[in-house]
Amino acid sequence: MCGIVGYIGKKRAVDVILKGLSYLEYRGYDSAGVALISNNAVHIYKAPGKLSNLKEILSQEKEENINANIGIGHTRWATHGLPTEVNAHPHHCNCGSLTIVHNGIIENYKDLKPDLEKKGCKFLSQTDTEVAAHLIAHEFADTKDLLKAVQNAVKKLKGAYAFCVTHKTMPDRIIAARKNAPLIIGVGEGENFIASDIPAIIEYTKKAIYLSDNQVAEIKTDSIKIYDKNNNLIANKIENLPFEPIALSKMGYKHFMLKEIHEQPDVVRNVLIDKIKSENLAVVLDDVKLSKEQLTKINRIQIIACGTSLHAGLVGKYIFEELTGIPVDVEASSEYIYRNTIADENTLVIGISQSGETADTITAIKQAKEKNSHILIITNRKDSAMARLADSLLPVNAGIEVSVAATKSYMAQLLSLYLLAIYMAENSTKCNNSSLIKEIKKELLTLPSKLETILNDTKNIENIAKKYSSFKNFIFIARGINYPTALEGALKLKEISYINATGYPAGELKHGPIAMLDETMPVLAILNEGVVYDKVLSNCEEAKARQAKLIGVTNFIDEKHKNLFDDAVIIPEIPDIVSPALNIVVLQLLAYHISEYLGKDVDQPRNLAKSVTVE
Ligand code: F6R
Repeated sequence: MCGIVGYIGKKRAVDVILKGLSYLEYRGYDSAGVALISNNAVHIYKAPGKLSNLKEILSQEKEENINANIGIGHTRWATHGLPTEVNAHPHHCNCGSLTIVHNGIIENYKDLKPDLEKKGCKFLSQTDTEVAAHLIAHEFADTKDLLKAVQNAVKKLKGAYAFCVTHKTMPDRIIAARKNAPLIIGVGEGENFIASDIPAIIEYTKKAIYLSDNQVAEIKTDSIKIYDKNNNLIANKIENLPFEPIALSKMGYKHFMLKEIHEQPDVVRNVLIDKIKSENLAVVLDDVKLSKEQLTKINRIQIIACGTSLHAGLVGKYIFEELTGIPVDVEASSEYIYRNTIADENTLVIGISQSGETADTITAIKQAKEKNSHILIITNRKDSAMARLADSLLPVNAGIEVSVAATKSYMAQLLSLYLLAIYMAENSTKCNNSSLIKEIKKELLTLPSKLETILNDTKNIENIAKKYSSFKNFIFIARGINYPTALEGALKLKEISYINATGYPAGELKHGPIAMLDETMPVLAILNEGVVYDKVLSNCEEAKARQAKLIGVTNFIDEKHKNLFDDAVIIPEIPDIVSPALNIVVLQLLAYHISEYLGKDVDQPRNLAKSVTVE
């Protein structure tokens, strides 16, 4: 969470920073700020709320104050202190000469603060970051060298941080440091950039250095020097950035979320390419670094993830257990950590994360690594911290996802889990279901065209969205492999429309939640032809008998039940085991259109951030 942009060069720094921050707003958007050094003075501007508020303030500022070639900027997701102007970054030392923007949490800020106060530091905000500003300023007073000051200060900081620091007396450099939070340095000609993520700088350069944990960098217009934790200068490893600027455009869609929902057929094609060529050929997954012998020894799978990625993992449980016969536990990363989990070298631990930066999942993966389990990471960011912890890395290649609500990355995660389960079944002696495997492969290959059938005609879903948008509560039900689809559909609705939506296994309705049902509580049921179809229908009848409005998402309604549903979305024919990949698109569209109809901020819902880098 929190986005950082730094610039030093010949351009107007404020332009580069504001543009960069606009691409990082997904990391947090409750306040924003910049610090610029021009005419031997530091100019700090901050505003609560979205970046547009900061832009407004800057548009009224005198040109001589903002016409700087060096500056740092920040977009915040509040951890310590309300999202107010005073808590917004940049923070500064007493005299305002030293400024800092920070992402992460300084865990020992309360221990450091009393000593700094005794030394005369005046704290204006409730943030942990301000402690770092004063600490570095004190080191600077001793050393008169900004690099050394930061190098000394980081040795006293505990927690996670990525930060940039400037000092009025050294307007030719920005010092950056990182530990457990992402930071990249974009390499330009006669100019350099610093950012939390690639989109902020991709317009200017395709070359960057990924700063590693415990490294400190000194960035000038024509040099970048990186030091390790022992303050030794190390060689720069410049890498090519994987994105094209075009990925950051809405391409005519009203919101990134809608664009990303519509990209899903191509995402599926992308994930499958070179991995499944036909239903008769084995799945090729070169990324899995487990030998046949190791695969055969695996007797337990643990899937760890958060939020939407966790729901993909829950679908994965059904697929793995069906195809490999190996027992699977799926757990929220935040629950997996700080207890004695049972895992050993025959356990396959799968971490799933769109961003690859989610702090809870990183901690859980590190914990599993200590048990010598094989760590397989499924992520959309092969340049992420989590990817670097992987024994096997399965990049999902969904392309950059800008909307805070995950859609296409979920689809890519599901597809990766199908591929992995099939691969494991085909490469271990425990494989016993070749006809089902063949059927799944065939279905996966036709999935893009079935997705297109739904996406090419969304009028019915839009009408249903409009009709139900005034309800304050929803229940989503399903059984079996679509139970996680119900959870994910409910999550999508609540996060972007703020409507209370809860997912339940349909059979659980009668064990409590049914008490809430009446005409004010619509029930959305997902039911696919298959073993649980009749059971879900019975649960729908029970809901109907309590006067709940019923919405069906199904591939089949027989004559007898035609009038059971108040509204229905009929999806193309698909076997139950692959149906989560089709059903979810209906629920994504429903959530999108309800949110859009209600006039909510679809791409940047309140209180959320795309990359959750705090535990
Ligand atoms: C929901 C959503 C979040 C994330 C969760 C985990 O739309 O995006 O629930 O799924 O924060 O993030 P990653 O997958 O990046 O680990």
